[in-house]
Amino acid sequence: MALFENFSDTLRFVATATRHPLKIGAVWPSSHELVTAMAAHVNPLEPGPVIELGSGTGAITEGLLNRGIEQSRLILVESHPPFYEDLREHFPKAQCYFANAYNIRSLAEKEAFPKAAAIISGLPLRTQSAETKRAFVASVLCLLQPGAPFIQFSYGFSPPVDEREVGASLVATETIWKNIPPARIWVYQASPHSG
Ligand SMILES: C[S@@+](CC[C@H](N)C(=O)[O-])C[C@H]1O[C@@H](n2cnc3c(N)ncnc32)[C@H](O)[C@@H]1O
Repeated sequence: MALFENFSDTLRFVATATRHPLKIGAVWPSSHELVTAMAAHVNPLEPGPVIELGSGTGAITEGLLNRGIEQSRLILVESHPPFYEDLREHFPKAQCYFANAYNIRSLAEKEAFPKAAAIISGLPLRTQSAETKRAFVASVLCLLQPGAPFIQFSYGFSPPVDEREVGASLVATETIWKNIPPARIWVYQASPHSG
């Protein structure tokens, strides 16, 4: 059953990505290998919400659940209406928001999110201007508990944002070849006292 669900999710993702390439920013949902590697950077024992930005058809969300993170700890943000509706249906215990994830700081203030144990993102940052990306990563880092990670994947070989521009440290993974297209994971952590 799960296999058929995954297959139909994949078909839906590919059809949507074909119609809205810039908005979706990918041709295929993230692979099992990529989402497993991303979720490995989240410590399930660290208390607090885990925020996922650009959840799509839930590939990374499933990776977080497989990592042992309770569904009720998840805050999912998605701006494509059909994906948002399906996320609500598939993950009924998660808090799902139909919102622009680049404004996550306003949403977090409005909804009084506690500081997050991790923030993980599948947003297509490469379609954004350098200043939008910098402001976005800086705002995400403000929503995290001290030392907590912001995890982003991209298809490029260089980081979406230089860590020095946002007062953070950055760790990059090797290229994950079992993904369409191959991707790297970037893990930012706010430097202590970076404000
Ligand atoms: C590259 S896909 C990743 C989907 C899924 N997380 C995965 O890894 O397979 C990007 C997702 O971000 C969503 N998205 C794009 N811009 C967004 C925005 N400004 N706010 C919220 N979601 C956005 C798209 O609708 C799409 O679902």
